[in-house]
Amino acid sequence: MGYGLLKGKKGIISGALDETSIAWKVAEIAHAEGAEFVLTNAPIAMRMGKINDLAEKCGAEIIPADATSMEDLENLFTQASEKLGGKLDFVLHSIGMSPNVRKKREYGNLNYDWFQKSLDVSALSFHKMMQTAEKLDLLNEYASILGLSYIAAQRTFPDYSDMAQAKAVLESIARSYGQRLGEMKNVRVNTISQSPTMTTAGSGVPGFDVFFDYANKMSPLGNASAEDCAKYCVMMFSDFTRMVTMQNLMHDGGFSTSGITGGIIDALTK
Ligand SMILES: NC(=O)c1ccc[n+]([C@@H]2O[C@H](COP(=O)([O-])OP(=O)(O)OC[C@H]3O[C@@H](n4cnc5c(N)ncnc54)[C@H](O)[C@@H]3O)[C@@H](O)[C@H]2O)c1
Repeated sequence: MGYGLLKGKKGIISGALDETSIAWKVAEIAHAEGAEFVLTNAPIAMRMGKINDLAEKCGAEIIPADATSMEDLENLFTQASEKLGGKLDFVLHSIGMSPNVRKKREYGNLNYDWFQKSLDVSALSFHKMMQTAEKLDLLNEYASILGLSYIAAQRTFPDYSDMAQAKAVLESIARSYGQRLGEMKNVRVNTISQSPTMTTAGSGVPGFDVFFDYANKMSPLGNASAEDCAKYCVMMFSDFTRMVTMQNLMHDGGFSTSGITGGIIDALTK
């Protein structure tokens, strides 16, 4: 049962691939809170077909879009506002992919075409979404736009490879575009920096189990789950956070401000 936090709000949710996806949980909770939205993902991700179950459950339409294609994005935003019958109140960018990580390239042996692909898919697509929405004038006053980040933007996690640079760019875009859309339309733009989470994208990073476990022990509250993250996203789409903008919001159980924890001491002194 929800609280009606998103009653009357319309939006776009990208990135729901399967039940483990953070975006999947956002869709479920946004639906329970009264939002109406369209779901989108890359045409290739549709092949799995799971997103149809989610769409049915949420009464949402699916509009395929490769988030790197301006043509696809124009179609996405236009069709979304037509189907929802108005401008948008929220947009979730929950998209990440690095060919270098997928193909386990060493950081000293990166393929630069793939590096550019990582940046395009995982970071520039955030800018492309906002530029499309701005040009088509499809955002309502006080709309809320969110991207999902990871602390590798600030600290080194070697196996995260070029995704660390992609996240740094993503967070920087949130600040620059947040300023612009704030002045133009009171729209807020933020990133949420989430704990390691067992999803398709997360578990594709080599050594993921180890840094999931390490982060869990380094966080006084433990790792935040995908569902916890989704609740935070929904709060950020709600009217309770209208003055929060241009921030990278840590959602990590206390990881980012811990020096050492009881969990780590126990593990090292065992
Ligand atoms: N899982 C983690 O540990 C973790 C931690 C912090 C941040 N994040 C971020 O959360 C977001 C969601 O990832 P997730 O963990 O839910 O994994 P996920 O694999 O479920 O979601 C990633 C999504 O990106 C989509 N995508 C890839 N290329 C695309 C393209 N060209 N166009 C449109 N969509 C495309 C995929 O189809 C998929 O749905 C990503 O930005 C990820 O970097 C994840």
